[in-house]
Amino acid sequence: MAEETLTITDNRTGRRYEVPIRDGAIAATELQKITADGPGSGLLSYDPAFLNTASCRSAITFIDGERSILRYRGYPVEELAERSTFLEVAYLLIHGELPDRGQHRDWVDAITHHTLLHENIKKLIDGFHHDAHPMGILVGTVGALSTFYPDAKDIFNSESRRLQILRLIAKMPTLAAFAARHAVGKPYAYPDNDLSYAGNFLNMMWKATELKYEPHPVLERALDVLLILHADHEQNCSTNVMRAVGSSHADPFSATAAAAAALYGPLHGGANEQVLRMLKEIGSVSRVPEYVQRVRSGQIRLMGFGHRVYKNYDPRAQIIKKVADDVLAVTGRSPLLDIALELERVALADDYFVKHRLYPNVDFYSGIIYAAIGFPVEMFPVLFAIGRTPGWLAQWQEGLLDPEQKIARPRQVYTGPAERHLPGVRAPTLTLPQRGRENLRK
Ligand code: SDX
Repeated sequence: MAEETLTITDNRTGRRYEVPIRDGAIAATELQKITADGPGSGLLSYDPAFLNTASCRSAITFIDGERSILRYRGYPVEELAERSTFLEVAYLLIHGELPDRGQHRDWVDAITHHTLLHENIKKLIDGFHHDAHPMGILVGTVGALSTFYPDAKDIFNSESRRLQILRLIAKMPTLAAFAARHAVGKPYAYPDNDLSYAGNFLNMMWKATELKYEPHPVLERALDVLLILHADHEQNCSTNVMRAVGSSHADPFSATAAAAAALYGPLHGGANEQVLRMLKEIGSVSRVPEYVQRVRSGQIRLMGFGHRVYKNYDPRAQIIKKVADDVLAVTGRSPLLDIALELERVALADDYFVKHRLYPNVDFYSGIIYAAIGFPVEMFPVLFAIGRTPGWLAQWQEGLLDPEQKIARPRQVYTGPAERHLPGVRAPTLTLPQRGRENLRK
């Protein structure tokens, strides 16, 4: 069997190097051995935006972009969306296995009883401007939670980690709903422990003066499925941030706030909000060809299309399309769906999209469902953050416990000016004591 190595010849020196291949990758540090100008001149790997760089080993999520495969801990996302619940999937992502009956009961019970917030958080939310974007409120309030739970800094204590994980999964919907209620000047609706995770979120969003809010079962299930589909996605931008912040041993609330800030970006989790704005801007099926022409000419991007990894269909988009049918059967047909379907049809037949291998991603249809359920468009990335929280936490914990990991600190290729001096300053001649000079040679 051929050796699992690379042989690299450095044509500058004629020297050959054998580099081991492990799990389809080479260790970038092996390149440091390839020197041409003495010690410290080893090669770096240069990979802006990490197009072809593995930052970690992970057993959590597997994606195959060519074959449209997405699996959480080996289970196809299609099966989990069909047969599981978001809290069961959250348990799976964090613990590596599906819970048994007792574990599931304890997990759901623990999360249900951590949904309340310290009353001072309300004062914090009240301090935001009336039209503050709820994602900005979420980033601020999740970070603030780290000040209410200083025990979260005890990150190498497994019991403390479990408690913070429960708190974050449980409190994200409460923070999200409170942010939404603040924007419309409604009183905060408190959690109802009789309801499911998704049902309780709908309750906190829309309970009015009725004594008990009753979520519509179709909408409750649709939201639970959407949360499952957003739960993790291997080393996406916000997860990379979660791991990087975690690598400095910051507490998980601070890391989650940073990850939510990354997700806020329109190229990432903010795309679902931009898709709705785009569909409303297109306005009618008849204007789709004109819009696609603007994308082809490079004037604009088609939000909700394209993906760094999927160069074929995003499997989540397929599932979301089916969920949309269930929701719209209850809420009534949405003209936006007709525009989205026509946009997809025209784009997929257009050679620009075929050449760039651009397909609908998770954000293309999710916003249509959120809008049909009644969420304001600003809440769409917040819903994404609620779903992604267990994935962020599973990845954070895996990174923390990985013996190969340490504080994330990339190198750079320096392109700035060589040494120079301020006017009137003579270049000092570097005179090191004898001992110091020996050190330089090592
Ligand atoms: C998410 O990473 C994840 O897993 C993310 C995510 C998750 O679950 O965490 O899946 C969630 O973020 C989904 C993506 C949501 N974003 C959008 O829908 C925004 C629109 N899409 C793009 O901006 C883009 O497709 C990205 C950001 C998703 C991916 O960008 P890449 O891989 O860095 O690709 P690129 O920007 O270098 O584009 C490659 C080419 C370019 O053309 P050329 O300059 O080579 O001629 O494709 C073009 C781009 O112009 N292109 C698009 C396009 N996306 C890429 N052209 C028009 N419309 C688009 N949407």
